[in-house]
Amino acid sequence: MNWITEFFTSTIGKKVIMSLTGLFLCLFLLIHLVGNLQLLLNDGGAAFNAYSEMMSKNPFIKAVSFILYFSILLHTVRGILLWQQNRAARGGVGYAVKKANDASFASRNMALLGSLMFIFIAIHMAQFWYQFKFGDVASGSIAPYDKIATAFEVPWIAILYVVAQIAIAFHLWHGFQSAFQTLGLNHSKYTPMVKGLGYVFSILVPLGFAIIPLKFLLG
Ligand code: HEM
Repeated sequence: MNWITEFFTSTIGKKVIMSLTGLFLCLFLLIHLVGNLQLLLNDGGAAFNAYSEMMSKNPFIKAVSFILYFSILLHTVRGILLWQQNRAARGGVGYAVKKANDASFASRNMALLGSLMFIFIAIHMAQFWYQFKFGDVASGSIAPYDKIATAFEVPWIAILYVVAQIAIAFHLWHGFQSAFQTLGLNHSKYTPMVKGLGYVFSILVPLGFAIIPLKFLLG
């Protein structure tokens, strides 16, 4: 047991936690997007409402949700601690100018981008998750589809969702391939494929999420 504690409190262990929780969150994002894309169907919300009801009743989904909440918190807290640790190791300053030029914008700003994502998720959960679980959607006074449609008809909410996708895209741009690298999955043949997949993922997933509020805003 001791070596497990030692591993997960070492710097590499902390990075492995970031990678595993990060990849799990990527998988969640993909599944969440596929479910939400049903909002684009021209069926008056029938498919999305049925999907939403199924999700709220499924005991497996409920159990996985708790792993998800825990992963979001662990990934955020660990990320901030690692950022502080790296900063302290550099003498409390940011990257030197030369280093800054070497690294991409995304890789230099992972903590900032991640914090913006966390703020977005907090607003998003207060707005939808809470209402779906305990508020007017849960009580049946409004259908899931109508709740989302009315929210996104408000311009600032729709714009907030679109702008948040920019931070998400940059965070994923670096994070996806970095997770594989930390896990030691480096291979001359597969690494370029993983990088390519990461770039495609980091563009298509936020784009998919951005289209949904725009559909309701622009009618
Ligand atoms: C158009 C964009 C989006 C829509 C319409 C949407 C919709 C929803 C809805 C309706 C819920 C509540 C589901 C329920 O409790 O049954 C939810 C939960 C959630 N959303 Fe989103 N979402 C969007 C984008 C995002 C993005 C970009 C993220 C992350 C960066 C995200 C993260 C979450 C999380 C973590 C939960 C809680 C999941 C759970 O309880 O299992 N969502 N979303």
